[in-house]
Amino acid sequence: MKAAEIVNLLNNYLPGHSLEQAFYTSDDIFHLDRELIWKKYWLFAGVTAEIPKEGDYITYAVGHDSVIIIRGREGKVHAHFNTCRHRGSTICQDEKGHAPKLMCPYHQWVYNTDGSLFKARLMPDDFDRASYGLHPVHIRLIEGLIFISLAEEPVDFDPVVRDLAPYVKTYQVDQSKVAFKKSYTIRTNWKLIAENFRECYHCGPAHPEYCKAVVGANLRESVDDILVERRASWKSKGLVTEGVDFQTDTFHFATRYPLRDGVESYSLDGKAVAIPMGAHKDYDAGVVGLVCYPNFWMDAVGDYVWTMRITAESASQCRIDLTWLVDGKAEEGRDYNIERLTEFWKITGEQDWKLCENNFNGIESSRYQPGPYAPVELEVAKFVEWYVERLREGVEATSIVELP
Ligand code: FES
Ligand SMILES: [Fe+2]
Repeated sequence: MKAAEIVNLLNNYLPGHSLEQAFYTSDDIFHLDRELIWKKYWLFAGVTAEIPKEGDYITYAVGHDSVIIIRGREGKVHAHFNTCRHRGSTICQDEKGHAPKLMCPYHQWVYNTDGSLFKARLMPDDFDRASYGLHPVHIRLIEGLIFISLAEEPVDFDPVVRDLAPYVKTYQVDQSKVAFKKSYTIRTNWKLIAENFRECYHCGPAHPEYCKAVVGANLRESVDDILVERRASWKSKGLVTEGVDFQTDTFHFATRYPLRDGVESYSLDGKAVAIPMGAHKDYDAGVVGLVCYPNFWMDAVGDYVWTMRITAESASQCRIDLTWLVDGKAEEGRDYNIERLTEFWKITGEQDWKLCENNFNGIESSRYQPGPYAPVELEVAKFVEWYVERLREGVEATSIVELP
């Protein structure tokens, strides 16, 4: 695709409508998505509870960049590019592991957890080890949630930390327990998942289990009265209730919304599935819904946290990693069981993957054309607007990105 064609597509964008086919299917536009969004913004990588001890690490690969996230001295969490400073081999091959020192498998250069080069065997005496530490990756923690940025100069993350931290704090994620993880690979464009998870137009017909738990999800009931009542109760418990709206110049969102009367958790029978989590004393916390584009979604109820990490692998393929966290003191079999804990989001998520795959298949049709969003899809329209703006910015500043 020529640069002029991309400019043309951007000029033809009709606000309030889904995007032109190429934005979902073209490899060239996917290249722009990578350069202008995935390599520039902040990516959710995991939670600190996955790496509780010094030397514990996870790796997260986005495109050609693999990142090592490792717990170092005094609990500090570091992020490094997973490329050896000798001749570039990847250092950690696994998605999770433990290594007090990181040793490259090729010629055994050894790095400390903070990325500094500890040993480089058979190198000359005057070799300057200090200049060959692993390349650092920007990292920020939000109360135990790990975000990284591959950019040399990432966009400002302070507003995200400021707005999301009060919502996450009460779950005490750093001390929590990773109860279960599940990954999916689905045939769709990453933006269709982002769009799907910002509207409930589809919830009534597609998600009977979700609608049974969340008042108003079917768009047929008013939430106003129950919201006033629940907010007063949440406030009295010190829980944050003020939502954080998504603006076109921000890339995050936060809300707390109510479950139906008598529903304690995101579960099939409405009953709690684990002991209250972190600082929560009961099951009256509603649902905390957090988003940080392009790849982070979190829904938390009084007894568990569910995170969704999206990774765009190509224009037509995404990997989705789901993680369920419970209170750090919860014991499997006594305080929760995996099946009950995970069935709600497995069912709901799998319904969504199918919708997102169908959506992509239909967009590939030669007769697809952008369609109008309903008023209840305002948040989708805002996301698409944000996305288009990011591409426009990048295309205008062609010095920072080479157009295909
Ligand atoms: S490439 Fe890592 S030690 Fe040679
Ligand atoms: Fe959905």
